[in-house]
Amino acid sequence: MSKLSQRHLLGIKNLTRQDLELIFETADNFKDVINRPIKKVPSLRDVTIANVFFENSTRTRLSFELAEKRLSADVVNFSTSTSSVKKGETLLDTVNNILAMKVDMVVMRHASVGAPHFLAKHIKANIINAGDGTHEHPTQALLDSFSIREKLGAVEGKKIAIIGDILHSRVALSNIFALKKLGAEVMVCGPPTLLPKYISSLGVMVEWDVKKALAWCDVANVLRIQLERQQIKYFPSLREYSLYYGINKNILDDLKKEIVLMHPGPINRGVELTSDAADSHHSIILDQVENGVAIRMAVLYLLAGAN
Ligand code: CP
Repeated sequence: MSKLSQRHLLGIKNLTRQDLELIFETADNFKDVINRPIKKVPSLRDVTIANVFFENSTRTRLSFELAEKRLSADVVNFSTSTSSVKKGETLLDTVNNILAMKVDMVVMRHASVGAPHFLAKHIKANIINAGDGTHEHPTQALLDSFSIREKLGAVEGKKIAIIGDILHSRVALSNIFALKKLGAEVMVCGPPTLLPKYISSLGVMVEWDVKKALAWCDVANVLRIQLERQQIKYFPSLREYSLYYGINKNILDDLKKEIVLMHPGPINRGVELTSDAADSHHSIILDQVENGVAIRMAVLYLLAGAN
């Protein structure tokens, strides 16, 4: 069996193009599996996985849990709101207590940048980053590139515009790393206050006008305004943001070309996307969600094989 170059999935930054392609090829097989009447395989029988979520999630947590169960792993779930973290227990103590119950892999989401990297230095289990603050969300970027590859046949040479709150987005950074490694042209677009100053050093183009970005791209990956991560005002109001950066069906129809519309979720309908755009024939948003299970099965399977 081919192997990943890493024993943890902490981010896309340290993966090679070969790693990405291996994950996609493995996910192709698992996508066949989850579309069969019997959706389960015994690949991770006797492997125990803890999903440790210190931050809210719908898609990522459910998708990991389904992926683990489809691979026949034993699964335990942890969320901060009902845990002893509320009594003051540290991250390391919490995870060491979970590991004392003989857990082999930890899937972790945390509001602090670098939390999974810290854990990887201190514990033996494989760690998968399910989103660390504003830093990386590697499985989201993997499922996004996998969905582009599925829809357009390849990622290489395609023009991808990432539109919205780039400054506070872990999805944006992981997508930029993945898309660049796979040979795509990448543009970021948003209000100047929501574009980090260093962003062009990552080899991406920068555009402030959303209509120009849409006219340029093959794929628009639209991001939510991350109000929960904003301590100051970066734009006057959500209404004004929506007026200048919101995408609706009329704007898409005026392009006179087909583009693919993506969104990692959760969507703030009426802010970055209107419902008639989000639910239009351009959208592959629910395909992204479906592909998330196959991608996470592939990552879990390959990391288990790295042990
Ligand atoms: N895309 C994403 O990470 O969604 P959740 O926050 O619901 O997991």
